[in-house]
Amino acid sequence: MSRFITFEGVDGAGKSTHLAWFADALRGRGLDVVVTREPGGTRLGEQLREMVLNQPMGMGTEALLMFASRIEHVEQVIRPALLSGKCVISDRFTDASFAYQGGGRGMEWERLRELEQWVGIRPDLTLFFDVPIEVARMRLSNNVALDRFEKEEGEFFERVRAGYHRRVTEDPSRFEVIDAAQSLDEVKRQLASIAGNIG
Ligand code: TYD
Repeated sequence: MSRFITFEGVDGAGKSTHLAWFADALRGRGLDVVVTREPGGTRLGEQLREMVLNQPMGMGTEALLMFASRIEHVEQVIRPALLSGKCVISDRFTDASFAYQGGGRGMEWERLRELEQWVGIRPDLTLFFDVPIEVARMRLSNNVALDRFEKEEGEFFERVRAGYHRRVTEDPSRFEVIDAAQSLDEVKRQLASIAGNIG
């Protein structure tokens, strides 16, 4: 059964760790799973990622590069995989643009909605790893090399988190909200039960 699943959360929520585990759980259920990420996911997308994470730029450029990477990703990777019956899990997708560029940077929600129309597809299911910003910041403090977003202030991340909450409110049936402040084992238990309903 083809399905498009995305993982979202503020930096430091722990989503990437859980993503690998979740993908294996789905494989264990016999699904053919493609794991990918944004920005990135294609050769060109990875080059755009390098730029957008490290070079200073204005808010509009940042948003358009995120969407450029996304449109390439949908055309080259996501849509073909779904059409061939695979399950696709992406580490971030359009919700991240609403949260970071909309919530964090203050870009108009309506403008982002227009870009979303252009992308054309929405995930069937989004796992949102929600965590208080102090906890996320503490986890990030172990990282040596921080990118342009990770270097932002706590206030920025509060706005990003609020952006995610707004997305959840706008389309609640698509989301599973996971309390990422829990222990890894607790989160895994929750993920196992979600995986059990897929396929
Ligand atoms: P992230 O997914 O956290 O990767 P890593 O785990 O390697 O740090 O990093 C991607 C960063 O890009 C993250 O800070 C959020 C940001 N981002 C946006 O601002 N807008 C977007 O649309 C996407 C996809 C990501």
